[in-house]
Amino acid sequence: MHYYSSQPNYKYLVVGTDVSIPLSNGKYTKEINFDNAATTPPLTSVMKAVNDFAPWYSSIHRGTGYKSNLSSEIYDATRKTVADFVKMDRDYSTVIFVKNTTEAINKVSNKLSQVIHNGIILSSFMEHHSNDLPWRKNFNMDYINLDHKGNLSLEDCEQKLKKYNGKVRLVTISGASNVTGYKTDIHAFAKLAHRYGAKILIDGAQLIPHSPIDMKPSYSNDHIDYLVFSGHKIYAPFGSGVLIGPKNVFKYGSPTQVGGGTVKIVTPKSVMWDDVPYKEEAGTPNIMGVVALNASLMEINKLGMHNIENMELNLTEYTLNKLNRIKDIIIYGNENNCDNRIGIITFNIKGLHHSVVANILSKEAGISVRSGCFCAQPYVQKLLYLTKNDINELKRNPRYPRPGMVRISFGLYNDYSEVDILIELLEKIVKNKSYYLKKYPSKHHKISSSARY
Ligand code: ALA
Repeated sequence: MHYYSSQPNYKYLVVGTDVSIPLSNGKYTKEINFDNAATTPPLTSVMKAVNDFAPWYSSIHRGTGYKSNLSSEIYDATRKTVADFVKMDRDYSTVIFVKNTTEAINKVSNKLSQVIHNGIILSSFMEHHSNDLPWRKNFNMDYINLDHKGNLSLEDCEQKLKKYNGKVRLVTISGASNVTGYKTDIHAFAKLAHRYGAKILIDGAQLIPHSPIDMKPSYSNDHIDYLVFSGHKIYAPFGSGVLIGPKNVFKYGSPTQVGGGTVKIVTPKSVMWDDVPYKEEAGTPNIMGVVALNASLMEINKLGMHNIENMELNLTEYTLNKLNRIKDIIIYGNENNCDNRIGIITFNIKGLHHSVVANILSKEAGISVRSGCFCAQPYVQKLLYLTKNDINELKRNPRYPRPGMVRISFGLYNDYSEVDILIELLEKIVKNKSYYLKKYPSKHHKISSSARY
């Protein structure tokens, strides 16, 4: 049982929630940001930390001045903040700062290509492109199938691990889907991967900002070997991201990028690489981004990740209940309950292209959402039951309606009154489709007959 009325309002913690934006009728309104899965605005405490640190900003690791030492201390101390946040085993794993999740996965793929020969990487059909394309370029791959509701199938994962008979070296899957919001039972998959001699990587881009995580000690058979996530999805949009992986993997061989900061000794003919994590952080790192991330994780610790998760799930449940009552709305994934999910809901309105719906929400009520395939085209194609013919037409004909959905994704500062505004507008749209189509014409308004979009 959830008690909606007791939800605190955290708008004051987030920058920009009081800004007014223009509507198509010339009036102004406060933006309703339901696009937090794409990126999140900074917390006010993050902005303060960045501003407070700015006068002390200096080069790290290689400088000797007071400010350099201070900057190095803050930068390296953030590794501990991150490690504690995800309950990382500090003897076994290292924290490497990167740009974002995409860079982190590319880095792991490039690193493992030095180590793994003739191995198979097992990803899934639920992935964002960033947990698919970086593997395709270096490895033979296969994909874990989905169940009838579009969720990851543990059974299929086991079948594939068996089929490849020890050749799968890494299972790499999302901790939570950026399309359906499904949360993966990461420890069940970890246990399975380890049983068949594979490691596991969790793409935490959507999970880490919305749900507590425990990587578990390296001796436990369900621990997480690699974890990656982005600062910009956790209220610290200053260009930093995190890659956590086993020290011994990154100790081995040469860094994935080389240059300043990666070495101990260089002669014209030889190089001695630095220790991890430094050897994997080529060039002057993003110190401001790391300061921002540190501040964000501290603030979230104060609020309590369990509380944030509960609040966002209450809001999701409330929204699902209301959406389910609107005729002509198709919800993808689990339309009925909030078990094992984060606050993401994707839907379409029958007879209206997703881009038209997104445009109406923005122009009529200042509601920001994302529409399309969310950089997860294979997953969206499956959820929409696209046929081979649809895909061929998409490749051949640039005027063929682009498939996709409308996505609402919640952050810790969204509230019920915002959902009420959304629902009221969706009800109006459904009742007056031709009126809105005339007002917001689109080249995509003729929808494909074979697909549900
Ligand atoms: N992965 C981000 C999203 O889902 C960009 O919107």
